[in-house]
Amino acid sequence: MKCTHKTGIVLLWVFFVSHVFAQISGFPAKGDASKYYNDPVIKEKVEKLLSRMTLEEKIGQLTLFAAKGIITGPGESGNIEEFIRKGQCGNIFGTKTVEDVIRLQKIAVEESRLKIPLLFGFDVIHGFKTIFPVNIGISASWDMEEIERFAHVSAEEASAAGLNWTFSPMCDISRDPRWGRVSEGCGEDSYLASHITAAMVKAYQGNDLKADNTILACVKHFIAYGAAEAGRDYNTVDMSERVLRDIYLPPYRAAIDAGAATVMTAFNEYDGIPVTANRFLLKKILREEIGFNGFVVTDFTAINELIPHGIAGDSLQAAQLAIDAGVNVDMVGNVYLFYLKQLVNSGKVSMETIDKLCGEVLKFKYYSGLFDDPFRYCKKQQSTCYYKDEYLESARNMAKKSMVLLQNNNGALPIAKGQKIALIGPFADTTREMLGSWAIAGEPSKTTTFFKGLQMRFGKENVFMEQCCKPDAEIENGFDKALKLAEQSDVILLTLGLPQSWSGEAASLTSIRLPELQTSLLREIKKAGKPIVILLVTARPLDLSQETELADAILVTWNPGTKAGEALADVLSGDYNPSGKLTMTFPRNIGQIPVYYNHKNTGRPVGFQSSSNQKYTSCYLFTPNEPLFPFGYGLSYTTFEYSDIKVKNPVAEEGDTVVVSGYVKNTGKVAGEEVIQLYIRDLIGSVTRPVRELKGFRKIFLQPGESKEVTFLITPDDLSFYRADMTFGQETGEYHVWIGGNSNATLQSEFEIK
Ligand code: GLC
Repeated sequence: MKCTHKTGIVLLWVFFVSHVFAQISGFPAKGDASKYYNDPVIKEKVEKLLSRMTLEEKIGQLTLFAAKGIITGPGESGNIEEFIRKGQCGNIFGTKTVEDVIRLQKIAVEESRLKIPLLFGFDVIHGFKTIFPVNIGISASWDMEEIERFAHVSAEEASAAGLNWTFSPMCDISRDPRWGRVSEGCGEDSYLASHITAAMVKAYQGNDLKADNTILACVKHFIAYGAAEAGRDYNTVDMSERVLRDIYLPPYRAAIDAGAATVMTAFNEYDGIPVTANRFLLKKILREEIGFNGFVVTDFTAINELIPHGIAGDSLQAAQLAIDAGVNVDMVGNVYLFYLKQLVNSGKVSMETIDKLCGEVLKFKYYSGLFDDPFRYCKKQQSTCYYKDEYLESARNMAKKSMVLLQNNNGALPIAKGQKIALIGPFADTTREMLGSWAIAGEPSKTTTFFKGLQMRFGKENVFMEQCCKPDAEIENGFDKALKLAEQSDVILLTLGLPQSWSGEAASLTSIRLPELQTSLLREIKKAGKPIVILLVTARPLDLSQETELADAILVTWNPGTKAGEALADVLSGDYNPSGKLTMTFPRNIGQIPVYYNHKNTGRPVGFQSSSNQKYTSCYLFTPNEPLFPFGYGLSYTTFEYSDIKVKNPVAEEGDTVVVSGYVKNTGKVAGEEVIQLYIRDLIGSVTRPVRELKGFRKIFLQPGESKEVTFLITPDDLSFYRADMTFGQETGEYHVWIGGNSNATLQSEFEIK
């Protein structure tokens, strides 16, 4: 975007662009989600239907069963068919084939009294059949177009299986890699995560929920599940309301502002009250402030868990607390099913409440077109709808764009043609591990392994493989065979990392180092004296402090999905120049956790003391504060230079959009993509402010020697936060602003809001 330099024209342009930009930027302005889902015609149909329903049938619409064999939590649903027939189960999750959907839907619409169609949900979080990288990898692409394509492909394939609802996007910010579910999110930054979650909702839901290739989104896990103490899943969450609103709320809100139809409650408590019974969160924030007009489903048996949480003495009280908080649907817990009727009959829950909650579920069966045609999602020929070439192409593109090059010493990468390649380690030729966690409908048999992908690209005569060990167990003579192969090769690709079962739900770790066996393998292979490239298969940040010393290059592949092998070959050969950037900090060691880029300055920051004695500053005795690899970091096979940062309106008024531009040049020998990032710092506020905050990013492609001017608009919303009086807004004062290729960007300028 070019800018003119005549002040008057610029300011006029600024006003025009900021106004238009705010409307078309794709990042939803902080709107009122209550504008969604108010169709009066549907409202009337719902009311008519409610008037014909018994209390049991209404409670049935507030019940969600897991399909047979789906265990994503502690327990299974009972005899699904019987409850559907009686109208006492209105929603199912976990069916994997359209035949399953048709069978259950037929019972609902042919055998139940009112023939109300079922909603079918599923955890389609990084693909359904065509599996994309785990979500933390997807976020590392910073590529909004690819992200929309991934979500669109997910909706296409999931709907072809008869599904009309996905439990995605996961919007949980997390700063703690001990927590296994960082794999499912968008990293540590609210601004980036908000863009991603909003884009996913729009791509899942499209412009017409009745279309047979769109599915309802589900914003999860509301709220702050990623802040579980000690990174231990399901653990206590406790934080100030300010941190909740400034850091954790934005991605949920952006997704809801983008029109998300449903929200899932988190397992954790917040401020002493479990989310599933928390009226402050579910009524005041979600319904009143954000204007959410969809329905709320609990996470797996979360109502039942109010008992062990210690705020309900029994299921009857748990049901009361959840219904009073406005929870619509009980996932698998059967608490509503067995206790709501008693609460209504005893006058503790009004029929008006039941009608409201039930109506919010029924309306989406109208919006999805299921009343017009309950089998509308069951008509596509599944065999032709899965793994289409363009879907696989998208998965390959996303996988290669998600990979992050952390280190590349001595020109180890890219690998030149004709080199003899030794591919060694536990992930060298595995399919299932490539798919990562939450790939329930994925098919390992359809997955290209690293070994296969490299052979296809470099030729079988140049690629040799030794698995040599399991992720945490030796294979007899494995190391000897590996060393021998290494000695006969020109370059060694060492596939290290964590098994996919060590990430995702209920997969918390107290160490973020690689299994010692793998570090020993690295040391052993080092004896061969050849260049070593670590291919890191992981779904969370790891402590690579030893590996960086021992290896020449480190490429984070994440769990790259169905097209793992091709995407890896694209990157290692240089056919694709790696462009991924970390969306979560990689600590030096676990002792630094939580460590994240947008931290506060404290009253004694390092460097605060004028003397060289930094003892009485906020630091550790034997470890620097800086992480090993910061947020936003990732290398390329080329280099980029930033220059000439300019603030078009360095003295602006409250309400103005500040326009910042800069130049980025490809100063290397190969073309490549760069994620240009813009950070600000609010120097003085009514509350302490982060030392950096991401407020803009753009991914652009540059030929060698090419230079481009990039312009960012910093809106009043971007500068707003929860101030000392807990109102949301901006403040006057001075700001620093940086543009660069990671959160340590140095090209700086300033502006002031008067
Ligand atoms: C699980 C997860 C949630 C998932 C749900 C259904 O417990 O917490 O993310 O959507 O159950 O599988």
